[in-house]
Amino acid sequence: MNLIKKPSWHIDEKEVTDERLFNNRRNFLKLGTAALVANTAVLVLMAKERYPTPDFKYLKDPNPENLDLNTWKQITTYNNFYEFSTDKDYVLELVDKFNPDPWKVEVSGLIDKPFTLDLDDIYKFQQEERIYRFRCVEGWSMVVPWIGFPLKTLIKKANPSRKAKYIRFETLYDPKQFPNQASRFPTIEYPYVEGLRLDEAMNNLTLMATGLYGKKMPKQNGAPLRLIVPWKYGFKSIKSIVKIEFTEKEPLNTWQKTTPNEYGFYANVNPKVDHPRWSQKRERVLGRLRKQKTRLFNGYEEEVAHLYKGMDLRKYY
Ligand code: MTE
Repeated sequence: MNLIKKPSWHIDEKEVTDERLFNNRRNFLKLGTAALVANTAVLVLMAKERYPTPDFKYLKDPNPENLDLNTWKQITTYNNFYEFSTDKDYVLELVDKFNPDPWKVEVSGLIDKPFTLDLDDIYKFQQEERIYRFRCVEGWSMVVPWIGFPLKTLIKKANPSRKAKYIRFETLYDPKQFPNQASRFPTIEYPYVEGLRLDEAMNNLTLMATGLYGKKMPKQNGAPLRLIVPWKYGFKSIKSIVKIEFTEKEPLNTWQKTTPNEYGFYANVNPKVDHPRWSQKRERVLGRLRKQKTRLFNGYEEEVAHLYKGMDLRKYY
């Protein structure tokens, strides 16, 4: 019998703050303006409340696997987000100045007609939960209950032309909000760029993530909208996206540009292809002492191996 146990993070309806308060953005703004007149301190408090906000509507993972979830704390306090810092434990301390609301995402390139999405448009896509393994190229991993919508639903809305073979994503460039972008010697070239082949982007697993653990995406995890490609190393999962462009040519992603002998375009999780400076055979799951074996395509072989049929995975790393 296939028993689905109620996950530990499940929040009972009665424990969740009245959703209407958070979903009705116009009322919220009106309320905010009134508060400004009445009491600025109240407004500051309210602004702080928005990220992360309580539960929003989503469908439960349609195919839950019996995976041990990492805790909220593990997922939200150990982050790779170079725009803030290269120190994973320090990112959270720097996110205060970052304001992911309001937000705009430009969708352009080889499509019917360019368009822009704001936060309301983004949350209008049917949100669902996806519990995925997440493997960083550095050798650590975690299991995250993401919330989001399949990228393919956005692609269908864009209706790309036949010429479109790839999608290119860009993170916000704003040195006022991202201290490492303002640095005289930024660690990497900004804006952060990533890309996928169109058929990879259309795969059912590929997610535009808007939250985790039933809450809107925390800033340090890439608020308000990030990519999640669970069979690829974490660096493909670009955060805080402001541009999505359909292209004919393979985009040059940030890490490939920075260190081409170490990082490629594909970045599929593969225990048989080592990083030039370390082995990829094993991984440390956040919060566990013993390392575990890394699986080909991060365990999603059945869903994605066909995308790379006939390709030499050593050459296309
Ligand atoms: N996106 C941007 N814009 N900047 C980054 O530094 N780091 C990447 C990826 N997306 C990164 C990014 C890397 S290396 C990893 S492992 C994941 O984000 C980390 O996601 P997490 O902080 O939610 O665990």
